[in-house]
Amino acid sequence: MAGKISVIGPGTMGSGIAQSFLQAGYSVVVVGRSDESIKKGAERIGASMDKAIKKGAMSEQDKQKLLSMLKLTTDYSEISGSSAIIEAVAEELDEKTGVLKQIEKFSGQAIIATNTSSIPIKKMASALSDPSKFLGMHFFNPVPVMKPVEIVVAESTSEDAAAMAISLAKACGKVPIRVKDYPGFVANSVLMPMLNEAALLLEKGVADREGIDTIVKLGLNHPMGPLELADFIGLDVCKDIMEAIYNETGDEKYKPAKLISEKVSQGKLGRKSKEGFYEYK
Ligand code: CAA
Repeated sequence: MAGKISVIGPGTMGSGIAQSFLQAGYSVVVVGRSDESIKKGAERIGASMDKAIKKGAMSEQDKQKLLSMLKLTTDYSEISGSSAIIEAVAEELDEKTGVLKQIEKFSGQAIIATNTSSIPIKKMASALSDPSKFLGMHFFNPVPVMKPVEIVVAESTSEDAAAMAISLAKACGKVPIRVKDYPGFVANSVLMPMLNEAALLLEKGVADREGIDTIVKLGLNHPMGPLELADFIGLDVCKDIMEAIYNETGDEKYKPAKLISEKVSQGKLGRKSKEGFYEYK
């Protein structure tokens, strides 16, 4: 059922979502806010495809074919005629609602999805004149590799929009799971207290960083330890998600550990800034 998909925001998540739909045979439009941001997005998608080639999941020929189906632009009118438009810009309510208003000018019959990991869908839906076509499609990082997509169905979302999102996620090889519009949905409700607890254990000196990660990796069979994973996600992103859930629920287990807040204020954001719980080259 390939067709056209649009993604707003060429960051890590938006680029990964674009790559996944390209690999499933869709033509993809990615909208960025500046020439610089779309240039970076193109580099990100190219680098991820090179990784796939290195891992044997893609050939150089596939890469060139997929890139010919991709259009990066700053012009929102290019999204017209899409089956779905997926918003993946910064995790800030005002930024997202501004983008949703822009999308709606050209969305036609398309469903509009947000890749938010923590902002309630209900809060964003009010920016749209027709919120029935709007819902959450929460992908996981790295998107081309990770299977699940939380399909976040708000009270205002129509059943047709939910069914369309589920079939699109399946069409790009993902496993869609329907969830309610609950703070943190399922993934981050479960994940964030674990990452936070690992930081609290490090703060208390219960074990060193390698010790904590090795116990979880080997003992609980996780592919990455919690501190390594927090660095991978970004400590600023983790903190924002925790605060968003804490503000909605008042539940202390989501209150970011002092160590996480300190690192963020020092600019130690994890892999992307070359230092977080670990140092990176
Ligand atoms: N594009 C396409 N395919 C790729 C690829 C790419 N860039 N990179 C790898 N692949 C393919 C590989 O070819 C391989 O395919 P096969 O299984 O068919 O062989 C598959 O993807 C997996 O690759 P690897 O086994 O080589 O990957 P790895 O062993 O290096 O593991 C990892 C890397 C997947 C990141 C693993 O460490 C992992 O699962 N870590 C945990 C990640 C995680 O928890 N993410 C969730 C973060 S939370 C989140 O995202 C939500 C939020 O809101 C914060």
